[in-house]
Amino acid sequence: RLLGTAWAAGAGGLVVCAAGGAGAYAATRPAAPTPLTRLGAEAVPFHGTHQAGIATPLQAAGHLAAFDLAPGAGRAQAVALLRRWTACAAALTEGRPAPDHDTGVALDAGPCSLTVTFGFGHSFFDRTGLVKQRPVQLDPLPAFSSDHLDPARSNGDLWIQVGADDALVAFHALRALQKAAGATARVRWQMSGFNRSPGATAHPMTMRNLMGQIDGTGNPQQSAPRFDEQVFVPAKPASDGTTPAGPAWMANGSYAVVRRIRMLLDDWEKLSVDAQEKVIGRRKSDGAPLTGGTERTAMNLTKTGPDGKLVIPADAHARIAQPSANGGAAMLRRAFSYQDGIGADGTPDAGLLFVAWQADPLTGFVPVQRKLDRGDALSAFIRHEASGLFAVPGGAAEGEYVGQRLLE
Ligand code: HEM
Repeated sequence: RLLGTAWAAGAGGLVVCAAGGAGAYAATRPAAPTPLTRLGAEAVPFHGTHQAGIATPLQAAGHLAAFDLAPGAGRAQAVALLRRWTACAAALTEGRPAPDHDTGVALDAGPCSLTVTFGFGHSFFDRTGLVKQRPVQLDPLPAFSSDHLDPARSNGDLWIQVGADDALVAFHALRALQKAAGATARVRWQMSGFNRSPGATAHPMTMRNLMGQIDGTGNPQQSAPRFDEQVFVPAKPASDGTTPAGPAWMANGSYAVVRRIRMLLDDWEKLSVDAQEKVIGRRKSDGAPLTGGTERTAMNLTKTGPDGKLVIPADAHARIAQPSANGGAAMLRRAFSYQDGIGADGTPDAGLLFVAWQADPLTGFVPVQRKLDRGDALSAFIRHEASGLFAVPGGAAEGEYVGQRLLE
């Protein structure tokens, strides 16, 4: 959906609003419209069968944030919070101001493909007395030998993913949601990431990560017949009231596995391009398999070179991670790159905010990570530093709030 002008102008302009607190704005006075480009005007519908921000094309800026319910806050407070968050996200994604306390940060921008996606962590169900409704899919992920996880930056009662094609629009949404949390929930951790800006290349291209690789080629494609069943929990409950991937309230939802994966860039950048390509099994320039063709050509996993060795090495990341090596395990990897300066060890604190979406993490992320953890060639150059697992319910219909089918 395309909107013509930024909300500030379209809705009639701005004055400082006393009721909204110092620095808050309300649309009350006419002003000249702010013309928008196609990029600024692009709006991703908030309401729908699935939450936005899963099958939506990757945006240029993203924030991940986890919240814990405040002491004393339970189910009733969680319902009120999800109502506030839903109203806030619905407004912002349409390019309207946040209810009550808009900060004006995104005044002259349109929605810029803003999406806000909400999820529930394992501990949410204890806090709200809903343990019986907790999907087994939220059981803690197994420990992996390569984990260096920081509990303070892992998991959480509630999770939000914000994405937009403009950094101010993304921050504006994050801030509005933090404020809407009020005294009900406190930020446990938050992380910010980025991707290439849309329009930087003449045609849309698969993203490149901070190791320089084309990243996302092997993802399930939306046009593929199995995309929905791989990414989303089926809507039709089984006869016992459960769906294969959890309770009925999760119908049309998805499970997000979040991993903050540091890239050991100083080590990686010492490798020749040839060595880097063998680590993945694909060409750095265009993402094509080392066995030839273009990015979308299938890998030839049996082809050997003149030296008799496999062209795509036995420990190449793409070989080990591919569905046919893992009982069909598939996930939609929708990651943001991050960089937070130089770490205490003097190396870049940079890498991937890895977000994998699947209908069931037990048949998606877990078997693949188990296999990779036994030592794919990439393992020596990355470190998993934080982890989260969240149940992301289906999308809210107009008039509904996100998570209503769980909380009502
Ligand atoms: C493929 C990079 C972590 C699962 C790839 C590819 C690259 C890559 C460059 C080949 C292109 C593509 O198909 O996207 C990375 C980097 C990682 C990382 C830099 C960490 C910083 C992970 C993790 C998992 C994973 C933790 C899951 C547990 C996959 C899968 C494929 C893939 C399923 C597609 C394989 C195929 O079907 O061909 N990755 N990856 N990756 N990766 Fe990773």
